[in-house]
Amino acid sequence: MYAFELEDVMFAYPNNIVLDRLNFKVELGDFVAMIGPNGAGKSTVLKLCVGLLRPISGQVKILGEPVAAFRNWQRIAYVSQNPLRERSFPATVAEVVAMGRVAALGMGRDIRKEDREIIRQSLEWVGMYEHRRDIIGRLSGGQQQRVMIARALAAQAAILVLDEPTAGIDSAATDAIYALLRKLNSSLETTIVVVSHDVEGIAQYAGKVIKINKGAEYYGSSETFRKPGICPKNKGREPSDAVGDGSHA
Ligand SMILES: Nc1ncnc2c1ncn2[C@@H]1O[C@H](COP(=O)(O)OP(=O)(O)O)[C@@H](O)[C@H]1O
Ligand SMILES: [Mg+2]
Repeated sequence: MYAFELEDVMFAYPNNIVLDRLNFKVELGDFVAMIGPNGAGKSTVLKLCVGLLRPISGQVKILGEPVAAFRNWQRIAYVSQNPLRERSFPATVAEVVAMGRVAALGMGRDIRKEDREIIRQSLEWVGMYEHRRDIIGRLSGGQQQRVMIARALAAQAAILVLDEPTAGIDSAATDAIYALLRKLNSSLETTIVVVSHDVEGIAQYAGKVIKINKGAEYYGSSETFRKPGICPKNKGREPSDAVGDGSHA
């Protein structure tokens, strides 16, 4: 079963073709790092994967279903770039994580005792329980991202999609977030797709790397990716043991 399947996906903003026949599949249980230059279309790809945008042509499937027919949105947690930028309201850490739980329960069901326990466990899992009463906007960027991961945990999402969670965060906090994502992937089998600027760093944690540049320039194991001479600089070369169905631009 695939978490995401993109087949010949085309996407454009007015006068700007962003994605040109993009193909790749993310298997359930994968930990995929998405890289590529600024403006390459990484955020656009994530938005297509979580149904916020629709392709002009080609197909996006989520958990085997065409995106237009997909209904199980609670199985997917999406953390956008700068998720808290607009969040000027004074929510506490625990309240933000509770929102994830409410999303999973659906409208009209109250938070019960067992839900509070899930929220507590989620906060402990990311090491933010002691901060539960803090106002989210006052935390450091790294701490805020850990809260966003706790929110996804509380929602019990099978698939976690994150857009540059480490932007503007120092290297120690960045490593802590990557380590947390790896733990989530290995111990809870959460499928993870994460966009990162930090090519070297993320490739040490993720199992697969996809390099976006209109199409998929590289898609394969992170081990192969890290060998010298292969992407990102050496565009022409096909990785010898590429996995998945990435086609090449
Ligand atoms: N809402 C939008 N309207 C018009 N153009 C956009 C919009 N969002 C992104 N773009 C353009 O689409 C291209 C891809 O953007 P994006 O997916 O954000 O790239 P990345 O995340 O890799 O930096 C860029 O040229 C960007 O300027
Ligand atoms: Mg982006």
